[in-house]
Parts: sequence; structure tokens; C-alpha cells
Amino acid sequence: MYDVERIRADFPILSREVNGKPLVYLDNGASAQKPRVVIDAITKAYSQEYANVHRGLHYLSNLATDHYENVRGIIARFLGAPDPEEIVFTSGTTEGINLVSYAWAAPRLTAGDEIVLSVLEHHANIVPWHFLRERQGAVLKWVEPEADGSLDPQKVIDAIGPRTKLVAVTQMSNVTGALVDVAAICRGAHDRGVPVLVDGSQGAVHRPVSIPAIGCDFYAITGHKLYGPSGSGAIWIARERMAEMRPFLGGGDMIRDVGRDTVTYADPPMRFEAGTPGIVQQIGFGAALEYLMALGMENVAAHEADLRDYAMARFKGLNWLNIQGTSPGKGAIFSLTLDGAAHAHDISTVLDKKGVAVRAGTHCAMPLMEHLGVTATCRASFGLYNTRAEVDRLVEALELCHELFG
Ligand code: ALA
Repeated sequence: MYDVERIRADFPILSREVNGKPLVYLDNGASAQKPRVVIDAITKAYSQEYANVHRGLHYLSNLATDHYENVRGIIARFLGAPDPEEIVFTSGTTEGINLVSYAWAAPRLTAGDEIVLSVLEHHANIVPWHFLRERQGAVLKWVEPEADGSLDPQKVIDAIGPRTKLVAVTQMSNVTGALVDVAAICRGAHDRGVPVLVDGSQGAVHRPVSIPAIGCDFYAITGHKLYGPSGSGAIWIARERMAEMRPFLGGGDMIRDVGRDTVTYADPPMRFEAGTPGIVQQIGFGAALEYLMALGMENVAAHEADLRDYAMARFKGLNWLNIQGTSPGKGAIFSLTLDGAAHAHDISTVLDKKGVAVRAGTHCAMPLMEHLGVTATCRASFGLYNTRAEVDRLVEALELCHELFG
């Protein structure tokens, strides 16, 4: 039984007030709050078990290394990936996708080669490909979403041509919550011999993930959206693809041997992890993933589906409210605009006065905003600790905005 009140008690920040009102935190898409187990893991690591990893032969260094390396296995388990050695630690999805762009894609692209993308993508899954467009003449092929905000996997597959080198696609839009059938895209792309990168930064937060079931080549996640520390994250990379990658950042830890005129590199995954990593961040990330697995991601998904349905039902009564993207089965992420002149920033300021935290703006997804024909939206993104009562608080605050600006 999913006891949301008990779960809320695990998150210290949720009991605070903002502007004199109990906090309603609906900015989970930007970053999620942290459960006590994560905060405790960070405190313990720094107060009892801290040293640099992979370097010392002393007790604390070995202990920190064990705890840090253990997280690779936790991440693999969370993703249903059989081999922890296919996990590369990153500071988040942005670094993961930049790694693939630089280390895998750049050396195999020549002018005119294509990357297929969807218009749903976050800038983190756009700008690294723009680098290849600017620097190497790569062509970005964009696939438009449907009127309801969904993405037709067949349209992505049909966009693949003889010069396509990679498909890079999100599993869930951070703006609308639209869920993408990435497994179907992977099947179609692989039939054509084209690898697929999946941006899992939202998808992995809201439902169970199984890398073998998706069948992708690269799958990137971000720790701070998964209730872990900022600066933590990982990318899963299929072994065959890892073997094709050149090193990315150079420095300590990623080498085997360095001479004046020669250098050889460590085996993957460490080949792609230069310098002192986010040791404690990743340890905290491991604690967050253990917490999620104990809750059960199917249970999280069911709870959030209930919030989505309840919110949709409440929004239906508000004929001055527009929801951008209403595809069936979408996640509990709502990009909202109000009829009239109210700007998303003004709406979010009023919501904030009522203790309701949302994000306003373009959500690092300008091509999608342009497609939707809006300059900005107000985004309410729900997480595993939100409640129906918080949907009601959001609706009350939106009603106030309508009174003020409508
Ligand atoms: N990617 C984050 C968001 O969607 C920052 O808000």
C-alpha cells in the first residue's frame, strides 16, 4: 500500500512553509527534493567515510572507493541493466549526452550525415548535436509531435535515411509529460542499423525502466531529478558502443600509463571518468535509488497516474486554462497557460505567494515552445510525494490568477 503521508515524512523540506503557507512543491521536473536517507548518506560520507577514490591504499580511501563503486551496481539494478561496467558516472544527463556527442558521434560524422531528433527534446539533447552541425556540418533532422503532443515512433523511424548516424530522443517530455515509445523507435532504428540515444532524465523518474526492454544504445539519467544530489548521474552505454568511443575529458583516473610522448587509457567505464568524481554525490545518488526501489517504481507510477487523472479532472472545470499536450498516458507534468494577457512569470509569482512552487519560462525546450505557439508556460510537475490535496491547492491558486489577470 502506497502511503503518501508516510513517504512525505521522509522528506524534511516538505514540512516547511513558504510565504506563510505550507509548501506545495510542484517543480520536480526541474529538481526533486531529497529524502532523509540521502541527506544522511551524504552526512555520513563526509563525517565518517570520506577520502578520494581509486587512489589511496589507506583505509578511508578504500572504504570511500567501495561505497562509490557500489553505486554502479545500484544504478545498473535500477535500470535493469545486467552489467555495472556499462554504467559511466556523470554529473547528469547533460554531461552524458555531451560525452556521446564528443566521444562517439563526432569521430564518425562527416558533413551531410544526420542526427534524427524530435521537437520534444530538452536543450541537453539538442545543443550537443548543434555542436556537430556547427563544427562538422552534421544535419539535424527534426520529427514533429502530433497535435496532442505525442510523438509517433513511426515518424521517427521514417525520418531515418542512409546518412543517419544516430537517433537521439527523449523518453518523456519535460514540458508536457508526453511519453515516447522509445522501444519501438529502437527496434525500427536498429532494423536500419542506426543506434539510439535515449534521454531518460524525466522517463526514469516516473516509471520502471528496463534497458533490455528498451533496447537502446545509450540511456542517460540525472541524479537530482531522481531524488538524489545535484551533480550526480550516469549514462548506460552498450559495450559495443563503448568500445567505439574515444576518451572525452583527459586527466587522472582515466589513464593506464602516461609518458612524455605517450599515453594509454584505462578500460571503460573509467576511461570516461577523468579527475576526482562527484564521490559523495554518487553515494547519495545510490541511496536515492535504493529508496526508490524499496518504494517500487510501479507504485510510484501508479500514484502519479492517479495525480495526473485527478489534476486533469480538476483542470477540466477551468475553461480559461490551457494545457499544452494532453496525450494519453502522459506523465503528471502540466504546462499551463491562461487565456488573457497573464505571463507565465506573473502566474508563477502569484502561485509562489500561495506557497505553490512551479517553473515558468521555456523549460530548456525552445523548439517545442515554438511548435506549441507559446512564448512561455507555467509548469506544474508532480513527484512521488505529491497529493490530491496539493492539486486542489494548485487549482485554488490558479483560480486566484484568473481573478487577478483574467
Ligand atoms: N531539465 C530541467 C527542467 O525541465 C531543468 O526544468
